[in-house]
Amino acid sequence: MTELNIKKLEEQIITQINEAQNIADIEQIRVSSLGKKGSISAQLAKLGKMSPDERKIAGPIINGLKQKITALIEQKLKELKAKELEERLKKEWVDISLPLNEAPIASGRIHPVSQVIDEISAIFSDMGFSIAEGPDIETDYLNFTALNFPSDHPAREMHDTFFLPPNEKGEKKLLRTHTSPVQIRAMKKIEEEAKADWVTEPIEPPIRVIMPGRTYRCDSDQTHTPMFHQVEGLVVDKSSHIGHLRWVLEEFLQSFFEVDNIKTRFRPSFFPFTEPSMEVDVQCDRSEGGMKIGQGTDWLEILGCGMVHPNVLRNGGLDPEIYQGFAFGIGIDRLAMLKYGIADLRAFFDADVRWLDHYGFRPLDIPTLFGGLSS
Ligand code: PHE
Repeated sequence: MTELNIKKLEEQIITQINEAQNIADIEQIRVSSLGKKGSISAQLAKLGKMSPDERKIAGPIINGLKQKITALIEQKLKELKAKELEERLKKEWVDISLPLNEAPIASGRIHPVSQVIDEISAIFSDMGFSIAEGPDIETDYLNFTALNFPSDHPAREMHDTFFLPPNEKGEKKLLRTHTSPVQIRAMKKIEEEAKADWVTEPIEPPIRVIMPGRTYRCDSDQTHTPMFHQVEGLVVDKSSHIGHLRWVLEEFLQSFFEVDNIKTRFRPSFFPFTEPSMEVDVQCDRSEGGMKIGQGTDWLEILGCGMVHPNVLRNGGLDPEIYQGFAFGIGIDRLAMLKYGIADLRAFFDADVRWLDHYGFRPLDIPTLFGGLSS
C-alpha cells in the first residue's frame, strides 16, 4: 500500500469517527480499524513481509496511523460519554421544589409511657442498674405471700385485685397489683415457663436492677386506671443502706425532672415487704394553678420505698444475716403526667390518635434518651 493509500485510509476512518453518533458506533469503528481483522491491523501485518528498507519507511507511517486513530477514538468516546450523561441528566431531572400532590406520609408517635420508660431506663443504666421484666399474670405467692403480706391482708381481696379463674390445680392466678413480685424473681432468677426474657443477665448480689411494667388494680378515676405502670427498683448487697437509697432516688429525680437540686421528704409509711418503709415527697410549686417540680414550698407524694424486709430476702433465697438492701416503686404514668403536663390519666389508654399526635414523641426528634423537656 502506498503512502497515498494510507492517507486515504486515515481520512476514511477519521470521517467515520467524526460521524459516529453514539458509543456503539465508535466501538464498531474500533473493531473495523484496530480489531484483529481491522484495516489498520491488516496494514501492520503487511510490515512483516516487507524488505527492511521498505519497512523503515512504512513502519513509522502505519504505527503513527494506529496511534493517531487510537487517540481519536478515545477522545470521541469521552465526548460521547459526556454527551450521554448530559442527556440522561436532562431526561431524568426532577423538580424537587414541586409541592407534593399527596398528603405527607403519616408517621407514628412514641407513647409518653414508652418515652418515660426509656428515660428511666437510661438514667438507671447510667447508675449501673440492669433492667428486668416479669409477667403480668402472676401467682398469688409471688405477688403477696413471698412479699410478706399476711394471709388476711385486705389487698388480697377481690375489690383491689383482679383474680383469674382457678386452674385445674385450684390455684388462682392474678394480674399483678405491683411490680414488687419481680423482686423475688430477680433474687431467685425464677424463669417463667420457657419465657425467660424478664431477666437480661444472671443476677447475684450485688443486685442492682430496675423492673418496669404493667400493673393492675380495680380502680378508675382521673388519676387511676385499672391498668397502670410501675417501675420497681431493687438493690441488694452486703452493706447497702438507707443513705444509698436516698442518693439513688434524689439522683434519679434530678435527672428525670432536669433540675439541679431537688428537695425530697422521706415520710415513715408501711409496706409489708420493707422495713422501715417510707413514702417520698418531692418539692413542688402549685401556685398559679400549675405544678412545677423542684421549686416552691409544697410537697407531692411520688413513690414508695424502704429497706428490704428480712423475710423477703429469705423468700428470695438470700441470707438476711449477710445481705441487706433497699427497694422502691414508682408510678410511671404519674411521672409522665407531671413531666409533660398531661392532666387526665385515662386518656393515656384511650388509643386516640389525636391525643397521641399531641402528647406523643417523634422518634427522630429526640436527640438523646434524655431529650425529654428540652426537645
Ligand atoms: N409496691 C409498692 C406499691 O405498689 C411500692 C413499693 C415498692 C414500696 C418497693 C416499697 C418498696 O405501692
